[in-house]
Amino acid sequence: MEFTELVKNRRSTRSYTEDRITKADIEQIIACAQMAPSWKNFQTGRYYAALSDEAIAKVYESLPEFNQKSSKNAAYIVATFKKDRSGFSLDGNPEKAGNIWGGYDLGLQNAYLILKACELGYDTLIMGLRDEDSLRDYFEITDDEIILPVIAIGKKASPQPFRPRKEINEILTIK
Ligand SMILES: Cc1cc2nc3c(=O)[nH]c(=O)nc-3n(C[C@H](O)[C@H](O)[C@H](O)COP(=O)(O)O)c2cc1C
Repeated sequence: MEFTELVKNRRSTRSYTEDRITKADIEQIIACAQMAPSWKNFQTGRYYAALSDEAIAKVYESLPEFNQKSSKNAAYIVATFKKDRSGFSLDGNPEKAGNIWGGYDLGLQNAYLILKACELGYDTLIMGLRDEDSLRDYFEITDDEIILPVIAIGKKASPQPFRPRKEINEILTIK
């Protein structure tokens, strides 16, 4: 699919079929996410994919009810980043925004992730609302990683609405 068409076709998807994504496709998608730029090429993003019934049930339990409903039948990817690296000098001194830069890098990676998924015929939902402690326990995520979204991934069960965007002049200043 041509890039602009791909960007326009992607939708946050809140209804999934029972078709389960394959391990090979998850690997392809994460390999694409890994191509995103990052602070000093530190590549601090980390991913935990829930593909088995057990792992999917664990991630599902970590979600509030409305996100459970939206992501039913999907598999999940938990996205984290190693803290105190992006946004820090090699000797460990933070820039003003500190770990926000690690979140920035992970966001870039996740943008690649959702678009690659879309290219392969998958749909996604980024979810910021989830219980981080239960995810940390289940995937044995160490305290040096900051957990950001859970991303549901699967095949849409029904067409999803386009969410309108602000006018360009509301978000862009040119001098
Ligand atoms: C950081 C982040 C957190 C989000 N958290 C949730 C969430 O918990 N539940 C949900 O249904 N959608 C969530 N969304 C999806 C947004 O609501 C969605 O991207 C936005 O409405 C634009 O719609 P679109 O993705 O279809 O273009 C989140 C998106 C982002 C980027």
